[in-house]
Amino acid sequence: MAQRAREQWGSGFGFLMAAIGSAVGLGNMWRFSYLAAEHGGAAFVILYVLMIFLVGFPVLLAELAIGRGAARGPVQALGFYGGRWWKALGALFVGAGFLIASYYSVIAGWTLRYTLEGIALGFAADPAAHFAEVSTGYDALVWHLLFMAGSLWIVANGITFGIERTASLVMPLLFLVVCGLAVYASTLPGSEGGYRYYLNSDDYASIFSREVLAEAAGQAFFSLSLGMGAMLTYASYLKRTTNLPAQAVIVSLADFAIAFVAGLVVFPLLFALGLQEEVGASTLGALFITLPKAFVGLGIGGRIVGSLFFAALVVGALTSLISLLEVVVASTVDIVGWDRRRSTIWTGIAAALFGVPAALSLDALDVMDQVATNFFLMGGGLALALFTGWVMREPEVEVAAGAGRYRWLRLWIQALRYAVPLILAFIMIGTVPKTIAAISALFE
Ligand code: TRP
Repeated sequence: MAQRAREQWGSGFGFLMAAIGSAVGLGNMWRFSYLAAEHGGAAFVILYVLMIFLVGFPVLLAELAIGRGAARGPVQALGFYGGRWWKALGALFVGAGFLIASYYSVIAGWTLRYTLEGIALGFAADPAAHFAEVSTGYDALVWHLLFMAGSLWIVANGITFGIERTASLVMPLLFLVVCGLAVYASTLPGSEGGYRYYLNSDDYASIFSREVLAEAAGQAFFSLSLGMGAMLTYASYLKRTTNLPAQAVIVSLADFAIAFVAGLVVFPLLFALGLQEEVGASTLGALFITLPKAFVGLGIGGRIVGSLFFAALVVGALTSLISLLEVVVASTVDIVGWDRRRSTIWTGIAAALFGVPAALSLDALDVMDQVATNFFLMGGGLALALFTGWVMREPEVEVAAGAGRYRWLRLWIQALRYAVPLILAFIMIGTVPKTIAAISALFE
């Protein structure tokens, strides 16, 4: 196969914005708040931080090392370090990217619609009825296709010109908007209840439940874009002089910070408007029903704030979706040998079609999300930890390039060998039967 020169990030800042852009998305501003609400606020937040530290960070560093070391997409990279049987794991990664991209685009489509509607018409007076109307069916399908097309256009433009330029432009704006919204929320009378709910818990006992642990670990993986080679693929365009541990620290901190600050927007806002009862009964659609209720209640200011909030979600979703698509596109370029443009078009058509069930049924969407997180991402993370800990030769040498040798890298390898696989296996034993039950319920 002819070896084309591989693209590289134009700057360290550009890579960081792209990687943080991948991490920060619906997971931070939608999934995190709804999980925190469902599992008793602060208790969940604490467990989540623990999971980022114990399993998220080690796997993130492993992905960065493998990707940069091999300078190829997940299939070829795992083949490069582990021999051809390990390519199967890479193929699983690409499949996961494909699956997540297809339903993620449906939710992203809702956010785009809500943003434009908020600006042009204001939020619907009855958000529950509105959501029921637009979340599935023809409406959802059209916005899904629109969002997918826009993301594909960026990916087709390549690493520096497409992905890096977009992320460097929009990610700083997202930070500003989310922080600004948190400040605004704090000025609302009655917001204290939100902080109390979010930052204190009367239910710390639930921390020890396996279910909450599983949700926290799954969320850590989803939010950091781990377990399916997205970070691996982005790292494959990095220079050997980059300090990988520093990148991993910055990306995990920024990702947590945005999720946390998004909570500082959502909870005070809902409590200030007396919508707290609806917080606990959170479901997939919560954000699209309860928050617009709050925005309607705030009048014209609410319309501005609401449009900004949904616009931030659009940005987050866009930079995440392009990272998901990039995994599939990079692999198609590497393996099939097509050029980027052609790979992007075919990937896009396939992913758009695969997302159709999610656009037609919320149950289908929910099951796709569960399968992706509980099965693909955690299973992928487990396999990747074992791979880096036991199969790959001297991963610490790759990490040391550009960073120097740290003593704690030994500890990192021990974590990948024992702690991460044990924690993930323990969790998966609990969640996989549940996921299977949800799948079969779908077909009844
Ligand atoms: N991390 C993104 C979010 O929080 C979603 C995402 C992007 C993702 N790429 C991924 C999730 C890869 C898992 C794997 O919204």
